Amino acid sequence: MKRFDIAAIGELNVDVILNGIESEPEIGKEKFAREMTVTLGSSTAIFAANASALGSRVCFVGMVGRDSFGDLVRASLAARGVDTGFLIEGDTPTGATICMNYGEDRANLTYQGAMDVMGFDDIDPGVFDAARHIHLSSLFMQSGLLRDIGKVLDMAAGKGMTVSLDTQWDPLETWRLDYREVLPKVTVFLPNEKELQALTGTRDLESAVAAVAPWLGGAMVVKCGSRGSLLVKKDGSRVHLPAFLNRSVVDAIGAGDSFNAGFISAFVKGYSLEDCQVTGNLTGAVNTTAAGGTGAFTSLEAVRALCRERFGCPIKL
Ligand SMILES: Nc1ncnc2c1ncn2[C@@H]1O[C@H](COP(=O)(O)OP(=O)(O)O)[C@@H](O)[C@H]1O
Ligand SMILES: [Mg+2]
Repeated sequence: MKRFDIAAIGELNVDVILNGIESEPEIGKEKFAREMTVTLGSSTAIFAANASALGSRVCFVGMVGRDSFGDLVRASLAARGVDTGFLIEGDTPTGATICMNYGEDRANLTYQGAMDVMGFDDIDPGVFDAARHIHLSSLFMQSGLLRDIGKVLDMAAGKGMTVSLDTQWDPLETWRLDYREVLPKVTVFLPNEKELQALTGTRDLESAVAAVAPWLGGAMVVKCGSRGSLLVKKDGSRVHLPAFLNRSVVDAIGAGDSFNAGFISAFVKGYSLEDCQVTGNLTGAVNTTAAGGTGAFTSLEAVRALCRERFGCPIKL
């Protein structure tokens, strides 16, 4: 019996969110924002927190600095029931994103810091024995992890672990990841539609799916926003599942991460890929009912009730 169902390997950062800003920043001037929230950022952290809320035993592998932002990251993960024993403290400061909100629009500025430094050699190899499944995310935000992805996948395979991967968007838009090399070692690939097209250099979903299909080590689920998701199995069969449509979305921040949390929590419990897809669509929809990526995931009971009452489908977890 392993200690953890899921080891989430990914980026960690703090979001400094500014609201009520009088006008855009200008060089040489000082301006005021009326509100500020300082909170745990990072899409992999949303995944880990929500998977934990859904009942999975989750540990986090990520790098922070020896600073107060690192302390905030550690305490926030722990408060969500995510084990922090495998966090790594390095000499580079913890990453941070300054989010300047202007109504519906926002300008973000990210300092990657420690997240960009972590490589395979920094990871405590004990995690490969402690967990059953590895979830890798936000590769293009972490050049060290991107460089060492092959080593991580080979180690996981050697330990008989299953692996899921959500590359997320590449801010540099260079998409330097050879999917022909990586996907055969991935059990569940979880891109969204735009990312899959960008990664494969294709212009429509059909061509993008055709490009990666021969290389799938297991299955792929493509997240298609309010249109739901597309499951593609290794044998080429497909299931398109419409979203449990939420017509009064609060915001869709972290919907994809919440989809991943639901899908992978069901997957590590041994449910079929089709059942995992239903669970992912449900938790993606649940995400859109409250502010931010984790707002709706207060407890498994609360999520269960939302699925049943608002979306008319019991969640299998
Ligand atoms: N308006 C919505 N109503 C219900 N479910 C939604 C809505 N928007 C997104 N979802 C669910 O969340 C999942 C992930 O959202 P998506 O925006 O595709 O991911 P990402 O955040 O990675 O871009 C979708 O596959 C869908 O199941
Ligand atoms: Mg995403």
